[in-house]
Amino acid sequence: MTSNHVVFFDTTLRDGEQSPGCSMTTQEKLTMAHALEDLGVDIIEAGFAMASEGDFAAIATITQAIRKPRIASLARAKTEDIEMAARSLQFAGRPRIHIFLASSDLHLEYKLKISRQEALDLTAESIRHARTFVDDVEFSPEDATRSDRDFLVEMVGIAVEAGATTINMPDTVGYSTPEEYGRMFAEVRERIPAIDAQGIVLSSHCHDDLGLAVANSLAAIQSGARQVECTINGIGERAGNAALEEIAAALFVRGDHYGRSTSIKLEKLYATSQVLGQIITFHPSPNKAIVGDNAFAHESGIHQHGMLANPLCYEIMTPALVGVAKTSLVLGKHSGRAALRNRLEQLGFALDREELQQTYYRFVALADRKKNIYDQDLIGLLPDQIRERRHVPVAELD
Ligand code: KIV
Ligand code: ZN
Repeated sequence: MTSNHVVFFDTTLRDGEQSPGCSMTTQEKLTMAHALEDLGVDIIEAGFAMASEGDFAAIATITQAIRKPRIASLARAKTEDIEMAARSLQFAGRPRIHIFLASSDLHLEYKLKISRQEALDLTAESIRHARTFVDDVEFSPEDATRSDRDFLVEMVGIAVEAGATTINMPDTVGYSTPEEYGRMFAEVRERIPAIDAQGIVLSSHCHDDLGLAVANSLAAIQSGARQVECTINGIGERAGNAALEEIAAALFVRGDHYGRSTSIKLEKLYATSQVLGQIITFHPSPNKAIVGDNAFAHESGIHQHGMLANPLCYEIMTPALVGVAKTSLVLGKHSGRAALRNRLEQLGFALDREELQQTYYRFVALADRKKNIYDQDLIGLLPDQIRERRHVPVAELD
């Protein structure tokens, strides 16, 4: 794998599941894990073993069914968590223990009630303990972006010395900006030469409280992050995590800019999003990039006309690239004659110029009153003599 390769660490089953209404049964997690394996993710974070018996069972089940991706199990920097995580991974071909411990003074003082020195000691001890079970240990200084920078660097340096193989620096509360987040990665790399010298992987993990999770993740990648943590449909705590489908599509469509490769099979993005939507019983909003219902839908007349002339006018990728069946030209009050004619022809009605003009007037009047215009509505607008002329469209003859 080249150093240009970005490792996709999917946390839909852990951080994603932590969002309201997204909890999944073991069977549902297994279905999702199969979809993630098919999608080509490199690592699946299957759960937080200590959190519940259900989480433990789901991780253990996934390790026995999924072979290609590594499986990660989350743990606090506590002996019992680490041992539980190790047990949940006992059947994994390629196990990873992921330890997190807060690095910001706010979390240390108010949440954990421990000193900085105690946090540093716990960092070293917990990583060394995890390394007695597995070779692959990820460490996350939680709330990294709101931590004192010198202390963060000290903690990461200790984590590397203790044997962490991946260092993930989360923007736990979605507070950072792309410039800041990118600079943090550059600075940590520069101040801890062992990171590059020992091939330690830096990882980004962003939340979307300011709507910047994907932008921040891409900034981290540009500053040397070789792993990106994300979820399908961007589900996750509060406003969610960085959306996998958006990062993967951005790295591909703007390959000229980012110059990175991934193992993600882009053509499976839409289907994977649908699998998750069916499991958690809610789908992303229609205007969600890449996988939303409207991501490849065009309503305005000017856009539809451009699309019919050349799809590149208004689409930066084909729907097929991400597994969406086709572009849809949605008929609404902003649509023009070109799209109306196109749809009527698909339905088997060829109209001359005057007939189209008269139908168009009736169509606009209807669209002003009605949100969704269906094919039956369009047919209803046609006078009898046109309806009787219908020829069967080729697609219906198959
Ligand atoms: O957002 C966060 O800080 C986390 C850690 C557990 C990595 O999810
Ligand atoms: Zn998180």
